[in-house]
Amino acid sequence: MGVKIVETSLRDGHQSLFATRMTTDEILLALSELDKAGYHAIEIWGGATFDACLRFLNEDPWERLRKVKKVCKNTKLQMLFRGQNILGYRHYADDVVEKFVEKAIKNGIDIIRIFDALNDIRNLKCAVDATKKYGGECQIALSYTTSPVHTVDYYVSLAKEVEKMGADSLCIKDMAGVLLPEDAYNLIKKIKENTKLPIELHSHCTGGLMEMTYLRAIQAGVDIIDTALSPLSGGTSQPCTESINYALKGTEYDPMLDEDMLNNAASKLSKVKEKYIANGLLNPKVLTCNPNILKYQVPGGMLSNLISQLTQQNALDKLDDVLKEVPNVRKDLGYPPLVTPLSQMVGTQAVLNVINGERYKMVPKEINDYLKGKYGRAPAEIDEEVRRKIIGDEKVITHRPADDIAPEFANLKKQYKNLIRNDEDVLSIALFGDVAIKFLETKKDEKVVDTIHLDA
Ligand code: CO
Repeated sequence: MGVKIVETSLRDGHQSLFATRMTTDEILLALSELDKAGYHAIEIWGGATFDACLRFLNEDPWERLRKVKKVCKNTKLQMLFRGQNILGYRHYADDVVEKFVEKAIKNGIDIIRIFDALNDIRNLKCAVDATKKYGGECQIALSYTTSPVHTVDYYVSLAKEVEKMGADSLCIKDMAGVLLPEDAYNLIKKIKENTKLPIELHSHCTGGLMEMTYLRAIQAGVDIIDTALSPLSGGTSQPCTESINYALKGTEYDPMLDEDMLNNAASKLSKVKEKYIANGLLNPKVLTCNPNILKYQVPGGMLSNLISQLTQQNALDKLDDVLKEVPNVRKDLGYPPLVTPLSQMVGTQAVLNVINGERYKMVPKEINDYLKGKYGRAPAEIDEEVRRKIIGDEKVITHRPADDIAPEFANLKKQYKNLIRNDEDVLSIALFGDVAIKFLETKKDEKVVDTIHLDA
């Protein structure tokens, strides 16, 4: 059995390279070839794709999913799901999490990859249980990062918990692209030795070393890898599907993808890519590797956010200071992995600390909430002095944050009954508030779309 491949161009590919702006029509262009290429799955949906549909493209993300499902008859569809944050940026009530999972599966998703920014297992449970209840394939992803507490043993013990929770597979989610080849080998080998779970590796080429890391992961026995078709690969995206397929051809790891189908799909996506180069959304900078991210351990997306925040404040000369402050803030906060929403929170705090010339003089509400335990359990001890400086004697919760959130779905459904066409619309509003409401106002007169009912 060769290595299995998940194609990411239609989710992470355009998310990493040009702000998730591919339209549904563009996504459909190459889909029937990709469907016939022999992939394990095609990644199609996630927080940013959903958000960009509503916010920038005036498209219904649910409709996109249904259209994709109609074309994809042979290959499983995969989505990325932020645990109790679903596809949004805060914790939602359990009823919304469960309803979202149910509707995602009914509209066409086969595999749900669920992760929590802090790897707090409690924040995964509701989504995991719902995925199993509605017959989806459940993959739990562990956010990979480096810190004194994020050792191989730490990940192995999490992997054992993930197996106990009933996940069908485990993903090492290296959102920053900082997993070094030998670390990947040791990590995957140890997890394979200690669990029976199929293991998938997800990473980014940002630091310029991911083909090497993938190869060592394969040698350690990784079962599935995430790659992107050539036009949307490399740089801040994933390694190239066709090249990996060639490299492994004829070996025991041969992914056996259909080269003609890949080439046909690639030539179609090349034309799409040209459009985004021409309109400036694809900045050639993101296509070149940036070894600095290995030094600073920040994801590519976070680095470009920091640059844009500093540019707005006319303080780009402070970039080095901010990059040095990021690890300090991480340490104070108990070493959270830098993935949404923590990457934005830590980045903003580091900028504020540097710009104000005093640490934690200004603190965003999200960091306040984090220190009160409202995002879950930090991987390591939070610096008590920093916590007290910011939240004083305010209460810190140690239970699962969503335990404090009352059911939301029925109220929203009632409140927006004149605007919504179906339960999917309620979920769009639950997650994206005003952005979804504005979008739905433009769709008010359209006919009600029911969830499609799929054959077994
Ligand atoms: Co990614």
